[in-house]
Amino acid sequence: MDIKGSKFIVTGGASGMGRQFTLSLARDGADVAFCDMNQDGIKAVEAEGAELPGKVLGFLCDVSKEDQVHQLVADAAATLGGLNGIINNAGIIRDGLLVRKDRETGAIKKLSLKKWQAVIDVNLTGVFLGAREYAAWALENGGGPGVIVSISSISRHGNMGQSNYSAAKAGLVAMTKLWGGELARYGIRTGAIAPGFTRTPILEGMPPAMLEKMVKPVPLRRIGEPEEMYKAVKFIIDNDYFTGRVIDVDGGLVL
Ligand SMILES: NC(=O)c1ccc[n+]([C@@H]2O[C@H](COP(=O)([O-])OP(=O)(O)OC[C@H]3O[C@@H](n4cnc5c(N)ncnc54)[C@H](O)[C@@H]3O)[C@@H](O)[C@H]2O)c1
Repeated sequence: MDIKGSKFIVTGGASGMGRQFTLSLARDGADVAFCDMNQDGIKAVEAEGAELPGKVLGFLCDVSKEDQVHQLVADAAATLGGLNGIINNAGIIRDGLLVRKDRETGAIKKLSLKKWQAVIDVNLTGVFLGAREYAAWALENGGGPGVIVSISSISRHGNMGQSNYSAAKAGLVAMTKLWGGELARYGIRTGAIAPGFTRTPILEGMPPAMLEKMVKPVPLRRIGEPEEMYKAVKFIIDNDYFTGRVIDVDGGLVL
């Protein structure tokens, strides 16, 4: 699919990788409706994208809410005059060990259901809703060509302290595979990318010593850049013989 002239939704577009995907797609000539919950961030990215070849329009939407995602897809399609896909990027982290014994008191601390559910709601249900609402819209409007790209993580292999996050990121890879089968007949392809540590606001706030420790086991000895993640997203959109698969972009790191 040609990116130039295409129309995409990007979720979580006000920061980090979502901001990059939004602005890079527009730079490459796509019209983009991005959503986020951060109103100031939405305004900032809209301003950054104002002079790009493609349109950059921000929408307020919580991807974990069914009615809001339905409305986002309807509004984006109406404003852009159609849709060719969605980049399911919005994600959060609420880390914690499954159980932990306090060394001094012996008290057992559990990963709370609240933390579990918060991550599942945004990182897994949010991807499900984005894909479902885009696909339903496409079917009502004559089918593809369309592409659903979802952002997984190297943590999908199981990263200690991330039961919730690892489950969501593995789950979306499984859905990407099965949706590739289910949606091919309608001209809709799917793909996921699984980034390793990437330079976004989350990592920028980390102390240098901690960052150094993190990159030590990475064969390429550095963190990834959001532009490098965009190259993988672009490959999935561009290559019409790609569906149902995940691309690892992690500098060769094995967890
Ligand atoms: N940064 C990394 O090292 C890394 C590595 C692997 C995967 N990822 C994944 O990449 C994606 C982007 O991460 P990032 O590092 O750019 O994070 P980020 O925190 O910079 O950006 C995430 C954006 O999503 C938005 N968001 C959060 N909850 C939302 C919701 N319910 N509805 C709509 N928007 C919401 C936030 O407001 C924020 O703007 C996430 O899915 C993350 O899990 C990140």
